[in-house]
Amino acid sequence: MLKLAVLVSGGGTNLQAIIDAIENGAITNAKIELVISNNKNAFALERAARSGIPARCISPRDYNSREQFEEELLETLLERQVDLVVLAGCLVVIPEKMVDAFKNRIINIHPSLIPSFCGTGYYGLKVHEEALRRGVKITGATVHFVDKGTDTGPIILQKAVEVQPEDTPASLQLRVMQEAEWKILPRAIDLIANGRVEVRDGRTVIR
Ligand code: GAR
Repeated sequence: MLKLAVLVSGGGTNLQAIIDAIENGAITNAKIELVISNNKNAFALERAARSGIPARCISPRDYNSREQFEEELLETLLERQVDLVVLAGCLVVIPEKMVDAFKNRIINIHPSLIPSFCGTGYYGLKVHEEALRRGVKITGATVHFVDKGTDTGPIILQKAVEVQPEDTPASLQLRVMQEAEWKILPRAIDLIANGRVEVRDGRTVIR
């Protein structure tokens, strides 16, 4: 049974999609061991509580230095013997030490088709604002492994979503979540939990 830690910062709709997928059997061989938020007011913490999942806030604000915060985050994951870290709307930059300790064991959901609209500064609504500004007709979401770059790790799954002429950043964000994120994030976890994802030469192979 794969032990998951889900790292969140906000609303937690992707966390909810994972909880639901475990409950309805779309994800097998995995359980959420712990939810960690860097933001004590994140609604995601409430979602975890409602489902009886242990949850903690680990915020940089509560530590004297960034190093102490990063150490606490890593120690917590190691103590709980987490197998896979899932970044589900997590806005914390993942420390290099953590990437080393969890090589190809951290995944992230990003709300665009990488390599479009990704990298430093592209998160949340900003991604959709830029997609609309550029006038793309197709956008989507990507689940990828986390390496030391920003949104540069091996891509696991992607799903395309059509942009509609009347879209606003908020309406596009919601449709990308509904049609892509809430589907491919649970799917990627299920594939990993069942040993079906391999990383070869910086790319994934799904068996
Ligand atoms: C999601 O759209 C996720 O893809 C995005 O933040 C949102 C979190 O929503 N993540 C990023 O932009 C990461 N670069 P949620 O808290 O409701 O799951």
